Amino acid sequence: MALFLLVAFIISLFATLHAQTASISSPSYRRIELTIPVHVSTNTDKIAYDTPKNQTQLTGLVQQFFSAASNLTALVEVGTVPLTASYEIYGELYVPHNWNNGVLEFAVHGSMLDHNYWLISGPGSMFNYVEASVNAGNAIFVFDRLGNGGSSQPDGIKEVQAAVHIAIIESLLTYLRTTTIQGHSFNIIVGVGHSYGSVLLANLLVSRPDAIDAVVLSGFTADGQGGPLAGASIGWRIASQSNHTAFGSLSNSYMTAQNSLGLQQGFFLFPGFPQSTLDFLTEHRGVLTVGELLSNLVLPNAPSTFSGPVLMVTGDHDLCVSSFSYIADQDQMTDERAI
Ligand SMILES: *[C@@H]1O[C@H](CO)[C@@H](O)[C@H](O)[C@H]1NC(C)=O
Ligand SMILES: *[C@@H]1O[C@H](CO)[C@@H](O)[C@H](O)[C@H]1NC(C)=O
Ligand SMILES: *[C@@H]1O[C@H](CO)[C@@H](O)[C@H](O)[C@H]1NC(C)=O
Repeated sequence: MALFLLVAFIISLFATLHAQTASISSPSYRRIELTIPVHVSTNTDKIAYDTPKNQTQLTGLVQQFFSAASNLTALVEVGTVPLTASYEIYGELYVPHNWNNGVLEFAVHGSMLDHNYWLISGPGSMFNYVEASVNAGNAIFVFDRLGNGGSSQPDGIKEVQAAVHIAIIESLLTYLRTTTIQGHSFNIIVGVGHSYGSVLLANLLVSRPDAIDAVVLSGFTADGQGGPLAGASIGWRIASQSNHTAFGSLSNSYMTAQNSLGLQQGFFLFPGFPQSTLDFLTEHRGVLTVGELLSNLVLPNAPSTFSGPVLMVTGDHDLCVSSFSYIADQDQMTDERAI
């Protein structure tokens, strides 16, 4: 599938004064909650698929998507449609007390997660990436990607799509570079992606190689062969039916893992993890929309002129990217058209 056309750009950002902030202090860092209004204008995939009526129909879509004889191209390759929209994005900024305008990490979570991915098991946990960053002396910004958590949850087919995420990321980076937030300003920004978040950052660097100063791509590979197996293992459920408390207001175009089994199958190799980490991500899991599934993209279809430092971090047993010898082949791993 020629999956999408990257022509995302920002028209403008609302006045930064309108961003709502709240600040919570802890002994070693300051945590600042932000609700950031963003205005995006981009071309989206025109997807000829209506919101599924029920779970049976959604499961049929997933079957078709992961089937070798898939004809989904016919659904998505009907062209592009311009979208101009305004959203609110929820984020949290963590700044060490001794921070001196050094590095800001800009973290983009993967599918079916929200910003809590970067805070696994909470304060004091060795799996809490935010605390590790702050203890290493960096500031870090984490946020809920459109459709998740405290951010806007618009149409899950027409709006929550790859190109829109990329336009929002571009907006957020502009906001962070041009706004003084409670006395802090940010000049050196390192993008840190996980899984789908890495894919979005790699694609952003094609159109905006100047957007970040360095990039860390975790859960990322140039070889997409593992994706279907991992994707089909999840057990996709209409999100509002899976957890009404968390997702009751969402339309049937929002999906999530039915339960912890799907998450474990794809991402947690027994016995190499504490049960508490799987429980935490199950409780804080996010969504995947039909629009994200059908506008899915793995690698940019053009090279980037990005010349900053790149670090790729791939887990030994991530079903998506590294569980099979044919995927872990070093020649393929370094076949990076991405950057
Ligand atoms: C689910 O919706 C489809 C139409 O999209 C319909 O054909 C089918 O009967 C429905 N199944 C159930 C269990 O309601
Ligand atoms: C795929 O879909 C298109 C458009 O709906 C249709 O014309 C074509 O026959 C389909 N191909 C297969 C193999 O089903
Ligand atoms: C459902 O979501 C709520 C709110 O996010 C959460 O507190 C609860 O633990 C979730 N339930 C399950 C079974 O994951």
